[in-house]
Order: sequence, then C-alpha cells, then structure tokens
Amino acid sequence: MTVGRVSRSGTPAVVAHRGASGSAPEHTLAAYELALAQGADGLECDVRLTSDHHLVCIHDRTIDRTSNGTGIVSEMSLAQLRDYDFGSWHSGTPASVLTLEELLTLALDWRRPVRLFIETKHPVRQGSLVEVKLLEMLRRFSVASPPSADHSRAVVISFSSSGVWRIRRHAPMLPTILLGDTARVLGGSAATAVGATGIGPSIETLRMHPELVDKAAAAGRVTYCWTVDEQVDVQLCADIGVRWIATNHPAQVRDWLVTV
Ligand code: G3P
Ligand code: CA
Repeated sequence: MTVGRVSRSGTPAVVAHRGASGSAPEHTLAAYELALAQGADGLECDVRLTSDHHLVCIHDRTIDRTSNGTGIVSEMSLAQLRDYDFGSWHSGTPASVLTLEELLTLALDWRRPVRLFIETKHPVRQGSLVEVKLLEMLRRFSVASPPSADHSRAVVISFSSSGVWRIRRHAPMLPTILLGDTARVLGGSAATAVGATGIGPSIETLRMHPELVDKAAAAGRVTYCWTVDEQVDVQLCADIGVRWIATNHPAQVRDWLVTV
C-alpha cells in the first residue's frame, strides 16, 4: 500500500520519536542529528530532572536500560550522569547524556524550522518543579510565548493532565498535547478541562477509535499520534487527518508519505 501526498486534511508532519531512535541510540545527539538530516519536521523527547535540577532527555526513571550505569535519574546530578555512556548499548558508539538545553540549541539553530515536542514524565518525586524548570528554560530561549500555536517551536506534551494544565496556566500561548492510551480519556472532557490544544492517542487507540481525530478537530484541537512505525498505520493517520506522526523511523515514514 502507498500513501498519497494528498490526504483529507493535509499530509501529516513527521516527528522523530526520541530522535531517529530506530537507527541510533534514543535521546542522544546522534539520534536527533540523524532525524534532522533525514528531514524530520519535529523532534520528540522525554525530560526528567536531575537531583541538581537540570532537565535531561531520558525516558525511564532509571538509567539502567539506556546506559552502562545504574541508578535513578532524580537521585543523580548532571555531573554524575555525564560519567556514563548512553550510546554503546544500542550501536556501540559512545554518547553522553543529552540535556534539554543542548537539544533546544540544536533544534533552534537548525537550518529550517523544526518543532520540539517535550514530554514531561509523571509521577516524579519533584512533582510540578519539572514544569517550572521547563518553563524557565523555554522563556530563556524565547520560545515560551509564540505568536500562535501554529508558529510555536515548542510543544509540551504529557500524560499528566496536571502537567498540561501547569503549562497552560503559566504560558497560555504554548501549544500543549494531552497524551493518552484510551479513548475514554481523550474522547471525554479531559483535554478541554486542562486547555490542551491537541490530543495524543497511541496508534493502538487510534486504530480502534479513528473518530477521535474528528472529535478533536470539532473542538479545535489537533491530533498527535505515537508511535507510528508501520506503513498501514501511516496510511490510516494520513486518511483520517492526524496532524503529527511520531515515529522511530522518520526517513522511512517520510518516504511512505511522498510515495504516490
Ligand atoms: O510521544 C508520546 C510517547 O512518547 C509516549 O510514550 O512511553 O514512549 O514516552 P513513551
Ligand atoms: Ca515520550
């Protein structure tokens, strides 16, 4: 099956999930540079706070799966995290832990505009401090008050409705996406309640409930779908009007989207 350039609501944009993480170790500079070189429209990352309150791009609560070390991210300082290798487990190429500051710098300095989808993880021991520190950083980079959601270089995404609400309350122009893996959450009033500008269903949820996209659009919200690595799912997303597709294979998904 091929995916045509023209879909009902326009071609979805491609977001590199944890970077081009199908080809390079997730959340490393190499994974994001590869995604940008492959033409990704957006980059997704998960952020957590270190014990000394630096935002780092790490998915899990611990570093055990993605580094040669062990330990809980929130109990380690940035300097401690820098002692470990976050690349060799995947590809044999060593890589340092990536800070959000480094990723923002890469994304904002890139030769064409790309959007950064920043996921705050909850529950965490620092609670709302994650959003406080994130907003501080986005303000420092002058991306916390975009002229409109469409022109924003940053989007804050979270499974936590409280996390989304904290961003909405303090940075009302920043786009936000409430993630979820059930239609009950995303098809109900949760996104409205926290003022999210988009919903973020998993592809498994969207396969069962494609009507979520139209429902969100009727309420003025876009749909961001994760993690879309199969061609048939890319086709589905294009057909039903998903705006953003997060994938571990951005080059492949882009190819599928331009094949007529
Ligand atoms: O982009 C949203 C998606 O990343 C949520 O799931 O577990 O991969 O962070 P997870
Ligand atoms: Ca994520």
